[in-house]
Amino acid sequence: MLSKTIMSGDWKNEKHVPVIHIEKSVKGEDVKVKLAVGEEIGHPNTFEHHIAWFKLFFQPEGFPKPIEVSTVDFTAHGEEDTLTSYTAEVNFKAEKNGKLFALSYCNIHGLWESEADLVLE
Ligand SMILES: [Fe+2]
Repeated sequence: MLSKTIMSGDWKNEKHVPVIHIEKSVKGEDVKVKLAVGEEIGHPNTFEHHIAWFKLFFQPEGFPKPIEVSTVDFTAHGEEDTLTSYTAEVNFKAEKNGKLFALSYCNIHGLWESEADLVLE
C-alpha cells in the first residue's frame, strides 16, 4: 500500500470493512462469493451517509495484477435509514488459486479493503 488512503480492520468491529465469504470454490465450477458491508455492525443508508459501492477483485497466483470481477452500486438512499442491505452474490470462473480483494466506499469515511485467499477444491 502506498499510503493510508485505503483503510482496513476487523469487520466484526469496523462496520466499513467489506466481508468476503467464499461460499463455493470447486475447480471447474463457478466460484461463489458473498460480499457484505456492515454484516456485524450495520452501516447507515441515508442521503448524508451511505455506502456508495463495493468491488471485488481476483488476482490469480502468478498473475501480475488484480482483475476486477464485479462492482455493485448502491443508489437508493433515504431521509431515514432505508432497508437496503449492503450485500451481493458474485459468481465467476477461476482456474487457479489466488487472492480476493474487496473495496468498499463510504461517502463520509472513505475507502476500505479486505482480502481472502481463494483455494480451489
Ligand atoms: Fe460511513
